Amino acid sequence: VHRDTTVGEFTTQAESFNASAGANDARILDAIVSLCAPGVDEHWLEAACGPGVIARRLAPGVATVTGRDLTPAMVELAQREAAAAGLDNVSFEVGDATCLGAAEGEFDGAVTRFSLHHVPLPVRLVRELARVVKPGGPIVLVDHLADADPEAAAWAQEIERLRDPSHWASPTLARAHRLLEQSGLVLDYERFLPLELDFEDWLERGSGGAVARDVIEQALELHPRGVTCFDVSERDGRRILRLRVWLARVVRPA
Ligand SMILES: C[S@@+](CC[C@H](N)C(=O)[O-])C[C@H]1O[C@@H](n2cnc3c(N)ncnc32)[C@H](O)[C@@H]1O
Repeated sequence: VHRDTTVGEFTTQAESFNASAGANDARILDAIVSLCAPGVDEHWLEAACGPGVIARRLAPGVATVTGRDLTPAMVELAQREAAAAGLDNVSFEVGDATCLGAAEGEFDGAVTRFSLHHVPLPVRLVRELARVVKPGGPIVLVDHLADADPEAAAWAQEIERLRDPSHWASPTLARAHRLLEQSGLVLDYERFLPLELDFEDWLERGSGGAVARDVIEQALELHPRGVTCFDVSERDGRRILRLRVWLARVVRPA
C-alpha cells in the first residue's frame, strides 16, 4: 500500500520536485559531491534517485552513474534531463532501493538523499546499499532529521504526513546512527546543514498540501517547545521552513 502511495505522490511531484529549490540547493549538492569524492573510473549508484539531480552532478567526474527509483515518472524525467544535459554515462531504471537486484559489490560507491523518510523499515535500504557497494567503498546518506524530543518529532511528522502521505518517518540522529550499526557500516564523517524552503511552495508541491491546509495551519499554531528540526518563521512577508539535513559518509568495512 505504501509503495502505491509513494508512486502516486512522486508521479504528481516529479516535475515540481525536479525544479524545486530544495532539490537544487547548491550548498547541499556541493557537500554531497565532496562527500562522495568519486574517482573518474568509478561506477556509482544513486538509489531512490528521483529525477536524477545528484546523478547529473556526479556524472562528469565518474565512469558511470546508475539511478534507480520506484516511480516510473521520475525515471522517465531523469532520462530526459540527462539526455538534455548531454550526459551519456548515466542510466536510470525503475527499481526498489530496498531490493535492487544488483550483484554484491557491484558499485564503487552509492548515494541516496531524502529517501530514508519514505521507506518503512529503512534499515532495508541501508543494508541493500551496504550489500551492493564493494568492501571499503563509501555510501553517502542524506536526509532531513526529526527532533530527539518525542513531542517535537511527532508534531513535525504529522505535518509532513498531512502534506505528503508518502512521508513515513524522518529519522532522529540516534536512529540514523543505529541504522548504520544495524547495517554493519562505519561512520566516516558527518555534517549538518540547514535547508530553507519557501513554506507555501513546499506545501503546495505535496499532494496533501491543498486539501489539508487548514489542519496544517492548526498544527502550526500548536507548535510545541523544543522543535529544532522543523522551524517555520516569517521573513520579508514570507514563511520559511527550515529543516535540518544530515549528511553522512559511511563505509562498508573491507
Ligand atoms: C523526495 S524524492 C528524492 C529524490 C532524490 N533522491 C533527490 O534527493 O533528488 C524521494 C524519491 O524516493 C523514491 N522512493 C521512495 N521509496 C523508494 C524505494 N523503496 N525504492 C526506490 N525509490 C523510492 C520516490 O519515488 C521519490 O522519487
